[in-house]
Amino acid sequence: MCHKSEMENEKPEFWEINFIEKQEMWGFEPANAAILTKDFFVKNAVKNILIPGIGYGRNAQVFRENGINVTGIEISKTAIAMAEKHYGNEMKIYHGSVTNMPFDNCQYDGIFCYALIHLLDRYEREKLISECYNQLAENGYMIFTTITKEASTYGQGQLISKDRYEMFGGVKMYFYDRESIASEFSGAGLFEITEIDENYPFYLIKCRKVRSL
Ligand SMILES: C[S@@+](CC[C@H](N)C(=O)[O-])C[C@H]1O[C@@H](n2cnc3c(N)ncnc32)[C@H](O)[C@@H]1O
Repeated sequence: MCHKSEMENEKPEFWEINFIEKQEMWGFEPANAAILTKDFFVKNAVKNILIPGIGYGRNAQVFRENGINVTGIEISKTAIAMAEKHYGNEMKIYHGSVTNMPFDNCQYDGIFCYALIHLLDRYEREKLISECYNQLAENGYMIFTTITKEASTYGQGQLISKDRYEMFGGVKMYFYDRESIASEFSGAGLFEITEIDENYPFYLIKCRKVRSL
C-alpha cells in the first residue's frame, strides 16, 4: 500500500501545469552543478548515467556533448515532449514518478539528480536514495543537488513537517542542512558535501558505491 503523501507526489498536475504554462522556464543553459558534475564524470570515466527528474533536458545536454549516454525519468509528459523537440528522440526518458523506480534493470555508472529530492517527503526521499543506489554500478557515483536552509525561502509558507513547507502555489519543499544530508545519505556512500549557488543556495552531494548494500 502506498503512503498517502507518496501518492500525492505521483500526481503529475503541479509540474505538468507548470511546464504547460511556463514552457522552458529555466532556459537552455545547464545549471552550474551540471557543469561541475560533467567535469567530475569525465574525469572518472563515467559513460552511462541516469537523470531522475530530467525536466526538458537542459542539464542532460552537457553530458551528452561529452560522450556520456543519458537516460531520464520525468513525471511531466509535456517536459518529455519538450526534451524530444529540442534534443531529439535518441535519449530514453521514462514517463513516471521516481517513487515508482526502478523503470529498468540497468546499472548506471553515474546518477545526477538535480533539484528533485527536496520536493519529496521523508519516505519518498529515502526510497529515491535507495533506488538510485541500487541502480548504481559498483564504483559508480551519484550526485544530488538540493536546496539548503540558507535559502531566503526557508521558513516561508505553511509548515508541513520539520523543515518541510508548502509554498509557491502548491510546491512542497524540504530544506536540508549538513546534518540531515549526513543522516539520509550516509548509508549510500556519502563522501562529500559542497555548497553551490544556483540562484538559490544549494548543496552538491556526492556518493560512491563501494559495495552492494
Ligand atoms: C526543480 S525541477 C528540475 C528540472 C531539471 N532537473 C532542470 O533543472 O532542468 C524538478 C523536475 O523533477 C520533475 N519531478 C518532480 N517530481 C517528480 C517525481 N516524483 N518523479 C519524476 N519527476 C519528478 C519535475 O517535473 C521537474 O522536471
